[in-house]
Order: sequence, then C-alpha cells, then structure tokens
Amino acid sequence: MKDIIAVSSFKGGTAKTSTTLHIGAALSKFYKKKVLLIDFDAQANLTTGLGFDPDENDSLASVLQGTKPVKEVIKKTYVKNLDLVPADTWLERIEVTGTLAADRYSHERLRDIIHPLKYDYVIIDTPPSLCWLTESALIAAQHTLVCATPEFYSIKGLERLSQFIHNIGQRHPLDVLGVVLSFWNHRGKSNKAFLDVIDKTFPKKALKNKVRRDISVSEASVYGKPIFDTAPSSRASEDYTALAEEIIKRLG
Ligand SMILES: Nc1ncnc2c1ncn2[C@@H]1O[C@H](COP(=O)(O)OP(=O)(O)OP(=O)(O)O)[C@@H](O)[C@H]1O
Ligand SMILES: [Mg+2]
Repeated sequence: MKDIIAVSSFKGGTAKTSTTLHIGAALSKFYKKKVLLIDFDAQANLTTGLGFDPDENDSLASVLQGTKPVKEVIKKTYVKNLDLVPADTWLERIEVTGTLAADRYSHERLRDIIHPLKYDYVIIDTPPSLCWLTESALIAAQHTLVCATPEFYSIKGLERLSQFIHNIGQRHPLDVLGVVLSFWNHRGKSNKAFLDVIDKTFPKKALKNKVRRDISVSEASVYGKPIFDTAPSSRASEDYTALAEEIIKRLG
C-alpha cells in the first residue's frame, strides 16, 4: 500500500515546493523508494525545479478532464526512481472548465486517478491557497505535511489550515504527518513562541528537524536538480536528509 502525502499551507513562500522536491528526491535517492511527485500548482515551480518546461508537457489537467490516461503524463526525472507529473497553466480554475464544471464529485477525481498507480510514495505539491486543487490533493492523500516559516503571519495562518484539514478529515481519512519549518534560524528570538503556537494548533506535530535558510536551495532550482546533486555538503542538503529520515520513521 502506498503512502500519499499532500504538502500544504495556504500561505505563499513556505517552501512547499522545495520540500516536495527534496523529500521526494531523498526517498528515492537514499532509500531506493519508487516515488511519484505531482505538481498540482499552475505556477509549475516543481516542474521547472526538476528541469522540465511546463509549456512543453501535459499536466494532470487533461487527465482530470478525461482526455488522457495518467500514464501518458508521467515523466521520468533524471533521479532514479523519481517520476513527475508536470503542471501547466491549465490547472488554474480547472474546476470550472470542461467535464469538471458539472461534476459534483470533481474533488474526488484526483484520488481515483492516483489510486491504481504503483509507487511507494506519491507526494503532491499544492498552490498557496485553500482552493479546489488543494482540497482535491487533501482528499486524495492519507497524510499531509504542513509547511510553515518562522514568521508571525505564517504561524497564524496555521489555524485556518488546521480547520480546513479537520473539515476534510471528517469526510475522508487524513492525518497530519508533521509540520515542517523552513528558513529556520536556530538563534531566532521568537522560536519558542512559534513552536508553542504550532504545538497548540497541531499537537506533537512539529518535526524535530528544521530546514535552515540556505541560498543553495534557490540555486539548485536554476539547475533543475535537487541540492543533493548541486550542493551535497550544504546545510540544506544536510537538513533535508535528516528531515526525510524523520518523515520515513513517522510513516512507519
Ligand atoms: N531553506 C531555504 N533557504 C533559502 N531559500 C529557500 C529555502 N527553501 C526555499 N527557498 C526558496 O524560497 C522560495 C520559495 O520557496 P518555494 O517555492 O519552495 O515555496 P512555496 O511554498 O512552494 O511557494 P508558493 O507558495 O509560491 O508555491 C524559492 O525561491 C526557493 O528556492
Ligand atoms: Mg510552490
């Protein structure tokens, strides 16, 4: 049975895409797991981050509309055992177009598409809003990895996300796998206050390993590769490796 993980946070810039890419790459590279990443954000940053051109590839949009089988939109990345379903701008407002517009159960289509695929892990990157795409990803997943940064608005936003996750969890099985903190500064003056709020909102879910601010994360996306290949001895490479180990342990 595979684990399906939706990476969420309704704030922008909380490192959702970087987390999806690096946790996925770590699971395939260091643990030899078969991993599928789904770029479910019209910004297509995960797609470009893995060296693909979103204008030249089909996204899940055509699969959701029923015009293409999912196997035709899955790309092999250059990382062994790591596959990608790219995104494109057609994902934007897809719920009001084509066959989805009239379907009351359109939110469940993603789940039904992923279900038969054979992978150890499927990780879905979501847009920075609580939109149809994010809701579909949370319905398709059994777990969500919540992303946050050590900033007041990011931490405050977790309360709304928690409510959203709770509501979905009442209709579909969904647990919070953990809260990932990126752009972490071990000496930050408000760290304790932030961790306290996280613990109140998502009790015992803050992951011990944090990802420190490191320029090599944005540099890696220019090369279209994970930092394990572009800057293997960087701080972020170290942090993502430790985080992946913690996550795989939590998944059991
Ligand atoms: N640990 C880090 N240190 C420094 N820069 C980082 C780190 N993590 C991510 N970044 C950079 O910060 C920016 C935002 O990260 P990312 O795109 O992963 O966030 P996001 O939550 O997916 O954003 P969006 O909400 O727009 O989808 C990117 O330019 C990324 O390269
Ligand atoms: Mg993103």
